Amino acid sequence: MAGPAKITSLAARRVLDSRGESTVEVDLFGGGMMARVAAPSGKSRGRWEVQPFPDGGVDEAVERARKLLAPELSGMNADRQQQIDEKLHEVDGTDRFSRIGGNTAYAVSIAAALLSSKVHKKPLYQKLAGSGKVRISLPLGNVVGGGTHAKGKRTDIQEFLVVPSKASSAAQAAEANIKVHSEVAQLAVQKGSPMIGKGDEGGYVLDMTTEQALELISSACQTVSLATGADVRIGLDVAASSLWSKKEDAYVYKRDGRKLSEGEQIDFVLGLIERHRLVYVEDPLHEDAFEAFAELRKKAGGTLICGDDLLVTNTARIQQALKHGSANAIIVKTNQVGTLSDSRRAVQKAQSAGYVTVMSHRSGEVCSGELAQVAVGLSCPMIKCGVIGGERISKLNELIRIEEDAEKRKILAGMARIPA
Ligand code: PGA
Ligand code: ZN
Repeated sequence: MAGPAKITSLAARRVLDSRGESTVEVDLFGGGMMARVAAPSGKSRGRWEVQPFPDGGVDEAVERARKLLAPELSGMNADRQQQIDEKLHEVDGTDRFSRIGGNTAYAVSIAAALLSSKVHKKPLYQKLAGSGKVRISLPLGNVVGGGTHAKGKRTDIQEFLVVPSKASSAAQAAEANIKVHSEVAQLAVQKGSPMIGKGDEGGYVLDMTTEQALELISSACQTVSLATGADVRIGLDVAASSLWSKKEDAYVYKRDGRKLSEGEQIDFVLGLIERHRLVYVEDPLHEDAFEAFAELRKKAGGTLICGDDLLVTNTARIQQALKHGSANAIIVKTNQVGTLSDSRRAVQKAQSAGYVTVMSHRSGEVCSGELAQVAVGLSCPMIKCGVIGGERISKLNELIRIEEDAEKRKILAGMARIPA
């Protein structure tokens, strides 16, 4: 048995994310090991998220990690996650991580968990899960990207997603999504639709209306479901805060050419759910519309109505959603709230209310797999991590490795399932 994972030092630097933008990376040393974590970065960030970097940007974040955090963390025990995370809050001293930055908090918090897992030679997912069996999270990934994740002619909706609801293994799940992704490209070419490259998360950018894109994706899903038996279903991230115009009191769809009042937006989304058998709709309304979310959720049958910008992995926001009945699923992005302990609290609160928890990547990602370890470790039935591109595939490959490892340890309970 190794002794405690005592932190000896911390290094921080500026690195790049998948969009080519700067972010912060942290190395934590201790117990003869090193854990390295770089933080992903969002672009369609919620208003209620913590601040990703302090004023002064990434360079200031790196400077503060070295000057403020390194001396405080030195000598601490990385096995005590809660103490590490409390220390991050204490050194920061604000309620939005404005001083050290939420991305630095994320990198240090996850690095501490990883360091502890390395020192004790126990995989991170198992350390987080504790005793008992684990299920492999179902991957939810982008096949078409638009909105703020693309430029030029594009769909109004930010993310058209797919999930292989009956996948039998991590590899089959990843492959089914990849097949849909390439089928979508083929169908778009056949239809003579110009393909305008890929969005930030690897989905194709198509000059199409919402309805045209969904028809194309439905047909791709049918083909792949027949061939694989994985029953690939469709989801959306409407990211409605970016369509919402306060001035016009309407959701503005430029490509579709429509402006919808709140009630019309609810009906529009319900129509899409029905016509395309959507299993999942994220942020169908803007980030403060708790009551309109509730109205939609009540009318949407079993479809997962998921809060991302609405809930920002924050227990107080979840409490508000519970009061209204606003959602039945939640996106979990650790750097929306800063630390692993904070996001574990959000996951527990949501899960005890029966929510489906969806561990999620950011649009600017890094090429490592911890997200999959955290998703399985916190029993999230879904992981939103994209379909293709090195920074997305790294999570899918990690799921494959976790499945193999859990099988060997006899703690594998198969693939997770969602109401579909
Ligand atoms: P992000 O958002 O660009 O902030 O990562 C992606 C999302 O809305 O899910
Ligand atoms: Zn979202």
